[in-house]
Amino acid sequence: MRISVFGIGYVGAVTAACLCKDGHHVVAVDVNDVKVNEINDGLAPIAEPGLDALIADAVAGGRLRATDRSDEAVHGTELSIICVGTPSRLNGSLDTRYVLKVAEEIGTAIAAKKERHHVVMRSTILPGTMVETVIPALERAAGGVAGRDFGVAYYPEFLRESTAIADYYDPGTIVFGKLDEDTILKLRSLVARIGVEPIVVDMTTAEAVKYTNNAWHALKVSFANEIGNVCKGTAIDGHEVMRILCSDKRLNISPAYLMPGFAFGGSCLPKDLRALRYKARTIDVATPVLDAAMTANEIQLDRAYHMVASTGARRLGLLGLSFKPNTDDLRESPLVELAERLLGKGYMLKIYDPNVSYGELTGANLQYVMSHLPHLSRLLVDSVDDMCQGAQAIIIGKKDAAAAGLVERLGGKTPIIDLVRVNAMKRSDGSYDGICW
Ligand SMILES: NC(=O)c1ccc[n+]([C@@H]2O[C@H](COP(=O)([O-])OP(=O)(O)OC[C@H]3O[C@@H](n4cnc5c(N)ncnc54)[C@H](O)[C@@H]3O)[C@@H](O)[C@H]2O)c1
Repeated sequence: MRISVFGIGYVGAVTAACLCKDGHHVVAVDVNDVKVNEINDGLAPIAEPGLDALIADAVAGGRLRATDRSDEAVHGTELSIICVGTPSRLNGSLDTRYVLKVAEEIGTAIAAKKERHHVVMRSTILPGTMVETVIPALERAAGGVAGRDFGVAYYPEFLRESTAIADYYDPGTIVFGKLDEDTILKLRSLVARIGVEPIVVDMTTAEAVKYTNNAWHALKVSFANEIGNVCKGTAIDGHEVMRILCSDKRLNISPAYLMPGFAFGGSCLPKDLRALRYKARTIDVATPVLDAAMTANEIQLDRAYHMVASTGARRLGLLGLSFKPNTDDLRESPLVELAERLLGKGYMLKIYDPNVSYGELTGANLQYVMSHLPHLSRLLVDSVDDMCQGAQAIIIGKKDAAAAGLVERLGGKTPIIDLVRVNAMKRSDGSYDGICW
């Protein structure tokens, strides 16, 4: 394929070199003459292991050249990949001026081109930027409609500097944000030899995936550092601890606990997090990540309360009370806290939980619930139907057989607050409100 790569920075230089290695012909475009000249001299414009050899080889083989002329690059190629910088402004917002400038230049060149052209964004841009900003800029300049008159896609880059070439050929995942099918087909052919099946989603989701990945990496680093700090303060080897944590691929390094939903609770997580933070304070180690986990959990509970309040309903049905399905453990269940808060504000509540039977609660479990919901025996009902009877809104707090079909059954007649995403594909609409979907 004949491809133009806009921006010869860390991403653009590696992308251009790897595409050439795969047999494609690349025109690299940059406003920086020094970089343009370096490429044309067969030199890598950035320090990256293995890049010098790839660029020297590609230039010597006539597959790579550089220019500062975007019109010439677009006219000589069928697909343009945008890799220009998207730096932070002083206030933290994202500066998209370079991607917009390039979009305008490419659009203008498309306006003067007969053959269909494809534009693929690889720069990191916030969710919505393609649809709200980049595509309108392209369409204005090209005088056409994206997806119809020219192709567009968003293809987030996940490479890491210093291992960028290895990452290019062995990515953890490949994500394509789709507008039109033929641009996706072109991208599929570009990555065919990598051997990873691309995940194709809409462009906004692909933009969100990139930010979620980087936020996740940042959170992991700070979490590991914090654990290391606490461990050092207690003469434990934090590397050893984290190595063991990472060896559990079922609960720790896995999708477990990684789906958006309601607050955590139960007899362990809140208690153990509190104790660990207390211990850290006694050895003068700050734990901002663990502190934030507690704060975020309280905010998620507030969020659920406000969602219920905003329905205007006063008589409520609550499905679920224990902290997760298939247990009757009510200790520190966020649903108990939600129920307590609603009752305190004068809401009338009927609660159904197939795992909770008042007469069978004993020990610490009974004690806990008595101090939070002393009238529980009067609030509990025996079936979903009893719970729905007279309810002006329903809160689904548990994903189990009792909840299945409830959303369809109430069919938009009764507002539903769903804290567990009882139907995997359901998104908030009108009377159905998912806590974070
Ligand atoms: N560096 C990384 O490890 C990495 C990884 C994944 C994603 N990203 C994202 O990729 C994008 C590029 O990052 P980078 O580190 O390669 O940036 P960079 O700053 O190294 O390079 C950007 C290049 O774009 C050029 N440029 C600016 N305006 C231009 C224009 N109008 N026409 C042509 N070229 C122009 C600049 O001269 C520069 O050479 C950013 O959005 C970044 O967030 C970076």
